[in-house]
Amino acid sequence: MRIFLDTANIEQIRNAVKLGVISGVTTNPSLVSKEGTSDYESVVKTICGIVEGSVSAEVLAEDAKGMVEEGRVKASWAPNVVVKIPITTAGLEATSILSKEGIGVNVTLCFSANQALLAALAGATYISPFVGRLDDIGQDGMQVVKDIVEVYNHYKLPTQVIAASIRHPLHCLAAAKAGAHIATVPYNVLLQMVNHPLTDIGISRFLSDWKRVSR
Ligand code: G3P
Repeated sequence: MRIFLDTANIEQIRNAVKLGVISGVTTNPSLVSKEGTSDYESVVKTICGIVEGSVSAEVLAEDAKGMVEEGRVKASWAPNVVVKIPITTAGLEATSILSKEGIGVNVTLCFSANQALLAALAGATYISPFVGRLDDIGQDGMQVVKDIVEVYNHYKLPTQVIAASIRHPLHCLAAAKAGAHIATVPYNVLLQMVNHPLTDIGISRFLSDWKRVSR
């Protein structure tokens, strides 16, 4: 499973890229607004200069025509921009048009395997089931990821599954076990995945043992 960073924070992206484990970034209007800017274009262009893999930029239009127009503009910002489109009837129509033009589409706000099936049939490059938001309302978000992976595998559909709305490292592990192609994780979750108290204790024990003989 590959890891994308789910943020529009440039410093976090720079730090994560240095670790060599990030192969893409996902953004949305909430994440960009969290950075205190409405200049989506400049944020995405900066991210595309840092990250080689795909960078998802979400459309704000709600009708198919507007999504297509906005998608074309966003896709022109950099070669690695993938247009993020919510799964609605308008979203499917826009996905179908943009994907036929060779523009990568990440279909977002997915909460069921049926939505994911439709997104794949419309030509989506990625589908983003929101695990945490389903868990929040008492449903099993990871079960939706498992169902999507099963359906896609069954019919050899090429759309890649991005486990999104990841809230903690256990989500990431479960997504990997479920066969998700990608998990998009907030920076704090990435750091939680790296850290383990026994690693810290081990390092300090190695160093103190070494100091005893190297005086
Ligand atoms: O990738 C989708 C993500 O940004 C949504 O996460 O935590 O707002 O549900 P969250």
